[in-house]
Amino acid sequence: MNRVGVIGWPVAHSISPAMHNAAFAALGLSDWSYELLPIPPDILKLGLRQLRDHGFVGVNVTVPHKQVVMPLVKADERARAVGAVNTIDFRDNRATNTDIAGLIDDLKAHGVELANTNVLVLGAGGAARAAVYGLVMEGANIGIINRTVEKAQQLIDDLGVDARVMSFGDTEDWYVDLIVNCTSVGMWPQVAECPWPDSVPFPEGVTVYDMVYRPEQTRLLDKAEAHGGRAIGGLGMLVRQGAAAFEIWMGVKAPVEVMLEAAREELRQARKLG
Ligand code: ATR
Repeated sequence: MNRVGVIGWPVAHSISPAMHNAAFAALGLSDWSYELLPIPPDILKLGLRQLRDHGFVGVNVTVPHKQVVMPLVKADERARAVGAVNTIDFRDNRATNTDIAGLIDDLKAHGVELANTNVLVLGAGGAARAAVYGLVMEGANIGIINRTVEKAQQLIDDLGVDARVMSFGDTEDWYVDLIVNCTSVGMWPQVAECPWPDSVPFPEGVTVYDMVYRPEQTRLLDKAEAHGGRAIGGLGMLVRQGAAAFEIWMGVKAPVEVMLEAAREELRQARKLG
């Protein structure tokens, strides 16, 4: 049996097993399995060694291990730039961050242009770092708004990119092509919240990408549609970061549509369970 999985603490809520196991089944890879691997922070190093010794091919990495795992693996340039790893291949101990490709691939799959566009990023945490790194590589001009303003400047300094810190007040004078929500605001169960304040006019006809995928239709996306814009939820990013990891481990193309349907079904089940 070839084993992969996701390490985190806790990881019970992860929909990655459903997604990857559906992909294995669709490709007839009955000798592969994807498992939930709860590993407490104080035994991370030991946990990784145990997984390697037990023949695991690789793992995804989630909260709270994404940053602390860095010195234990050979992180590639993008993972080092973003400061977080989400995929490890134990065969060569290389690690990367597929959130970047997850977002960019999903935007492209939706036909969203990025080169020479103005993109407003909401948030300055780990998800925003991955987004800004990928968007700059695609040639977008970036403005960042974050509740904690210093963190936005820190992000720009750390990534060494040409982007500007903005406030909601500035958005009336800046033509925005795309808004990417990288905050957790609006995520279940706080579904009534919106990262865009009601007091600030919402730009007309703008595409909004919300990394929040639970619920699939957030208040931010409602707002975008109410103002003649296009709304794209974050489930595709989640699926495509998984697909990118799958391709690293397997060396074959991931069945993205199968993974998307499995992720949707898993979220439907989770909703039933409350
Ligand atoms: P992730 O790894 O998912 O990006 P994170 O690093 O904790 O998670 O970042 C969460 C982001 O959501 C941050 O930009 C955070 O703003 P602060 O830097 O000011 O903390 C933002 N965020 C979370 N809750 C928020 C809220 N209620 N209002 C505004 N921004 C919020």
